[in-house]
Amino acid sequence: MKKKKLRAIEGTRDYLGEAQQRFARALEAAGEVFSRYGYERIETPVFEGTNLFARSIGEATDIVEKEMYTFKPGSDQITLRPEGTAGVIRAYLQHNLHKQGSMAKLWYAGPMFRRERPQKGRQRQFHQVGVEAVGSDDPLLDVETIAMGIDYYQSLSIAGTALRLNSIGCAAPDCRPAYREHLRRAIEPNLGALCKTCQQRFGRNLLRILDCKNRTCQEVIARLPASHEHLCQGCEKHFQVVQKGLTDLGIAYTVDGTLVRGLDYYTRTVFEYVHDKLGAQDAIGGGGRYDGLVQELGGPPTPAVGFALGVERAMIAMEALGVPVEEAGIEVFGVAGQGACRERMGALIAEVRAGGFSADMDYEGRSFKAQMRLANRRNARVVLILGEDELQNNTLAIKDMREDGEQTTRAAPELLPALQTLLG
Ligand code: HAM
Repeated sequence: MKKKKLRAIEGTRDYLGEAQQRFARALEAAGEVFSRYGYERIETPVFEGTNLFARSIGEATDIVEKEMYTFKPGSDQITLRPEGTAGVIRAYLQHNLHKQGSMAKLWYAGPMFRRERPQKGRQRQFHQVGVEAVGSDDPLLDVETIAMGIDYYQSLSIAGTALRLNSIGCAAPDCRPAYREHLRRAIEPNLGALCKTCQQRFGRNLLRILDCKNRTCQEVIARLPASHEHLCQGCEKHFQVVQKGLTDLGIAYTVDGTLVRGLDYYTRTVFEYVHDKLGAQDAIGGGGRYDGLVQELGGPPTPAVGFALGVERAMIAMEALGVPVEEAGIEVFGVAGQGACRERMGALIAEVRAGGFSADMDYEGRSFKAQMRLANRRNARVVLILGEDELQNNTLAIKDMREDGEQTTRAAPELLPALQTLLG
């Protein structure tokens, strides 16, 4: 019987070649940009207690209701993290960072897991780079966070991201609860015109109706009151300062009353970066303020703001925009004759690596000519050539592979200084 070919699970993928270069660059840029804003890296586990996500993201969200990978390997119920914020706040509390006397700025990168229907830009294992600034309600911190995301895309040469902005207010009775009531009254007479999902959301997660992409729902939504027009005084002022701060920095944005985001922990500022090269899944990143989450998870009242940026979506944009990737290659490749020549080349290659250069040679018994072809294919900058004559004389030929590069014969002890001159 023919054995079935093994394949990666649907909604997951491997990163090789150019995709790997883009992936690595997206992670590297996060470290460069976020540390410039005073962020420290944090690493949290890929799985946590299910309860953590239910309490933070919210029981009635799509993520918690139907997208989590949950297991019960023993007595504990665990879930593969669908996002990073919950774990970071759990760690913040576990390690008493709230007692250190100043706010914490933490960044992370890693895989997240959501059992969504796979499509372009939507995977079941995907990666995020993200930040969480915990311990300040200053609207200028929202501005800094949003600007940092834009800086990140610029550092990856991703042009064309647009910013959607909204404020969804706070838990004060005259703010979101009053708005929700307002919304309920406006939607109720139109309930029959809404899709099934929205009819279910009406009872359980009213605000998410605003996010529905269904065409008939959109017609109803267009006539509904916007949250940023029904804020309490404090949230209204906060939102004004955020907008002024963005304008002062020359950052363009669109206030979008339908932006509510898919996680329950948000308060006040919410935002999304969108990109037109992504297709239906156009959010390349998103975030917002979550002033109630630390307390919800058992800590003292502690305001916070953050974002997460989708690595795969950034990669799609980079590819669509033709952002060049660094050409893969090796600095030094050794080409040798058979027997003792190969052994000598092995020792020289070890010396070159110890000198700080990347180096490799053939281990598959290729002929001299085929080794030269391999050196070319590996994009070697310098090729070392060692035949019987060189072995006898303790010399070697050093060939500069650039277009007008030369080949010189050197005494073996001159190898490293010669490479230093050629490769810097
Ligand atoms: P989120 O909007 O759920 O927010 O995810 C952030 C980004 O992750 C999205 O904008 C998108 O680029 C990417 N993403 C989400 N789901 C997928 C998927 N299935 N496949 C590929 N990419 C995906 C959060 O996760 C919040 N924790 C952000 C945050 C941090 N808010 C405050 N702090």
